[in-house]
Amino acid sequence: MAEARTRTAVLISGRGSNLAVLIAAAADAQFPAEIAFVLSDRADAKGLGLARDHGIPTAVIDKATHGTKAEMEAAFDAALRDAGTELICLAGFMRILSAPFVDSWRDRILNIHPSLLPLFPGLKTHERALEAGVRIHGATVHFVRAEMDAGPIVTQGAVPVLDDDTPDTLADRVLGVEHRIFPLALDLVASGRASVKGERVIIDGAAMAPDAALLSPPD
Ligand code: GRF
Repeated sequence: MAEARTRTAVLISGRGSNLAVLIAAAADAQFPAEIAFVLSDRADAKGLGLARDHGIPTAVIDKATHGTKAEMEAAFDAALRDAGTELICLAGFMRILSAPFVDSWRDRILNIHPSLLPLFPGLKTHERALEAGVRIHGATVHFVRAEMDAGPIVTQGAVPVLDDDTPDTLADRVLGVEHRIFPLALDLVASGRASVKGERVIIDGAAMAPDAALLSPPD
């Protein structure tokens, strides 16, 4: 019998393009995770429709039905546990989870963030990258800790910043790498190849050329 796949819940607040690539990756029966549940804190999140189209159970837990942060998080937790969740992916989930919630799912929550953390935690990362004048920018998938946009890093993807970039053109380029590194991170974690040691992630058998480099501008 095939080995059980890791039951993964994806939490979203909006468009759901990262959800879409996770669903696409998990469509392969060999992928070590299945997308078993999609939860949103907003009833109007476009990604909910995408999940329903794929027959994935969904739930909305929002401020209208659960007034306080503690009530909302208790409801998130109950819904996630009811769905048999083993791993959580935050994919454009625009809510900071409290320490008790994060601690009770320690090393079982992944988040994607549109910068090369620890640079530019928080919002408006592309504007801030342009203002800072960095020549390389990117995205990060990391295990979630109680501090915002912090925690052991599983995957990162880098892109060049071009002279004529605007926040929108840069966001588009970064989104392209987000869509590559999130399925990769989920694969590594669900298969057990990535594990947290200390506060670093160790990856079993990562075939990375030691001299690989992205130079910006190129030499
Ligand atoms: C992504 O850029 C993600 O990194 C950020 O919010 C955006 C969500 O996009 N946290 P989508 O909903 O996955 O399309």
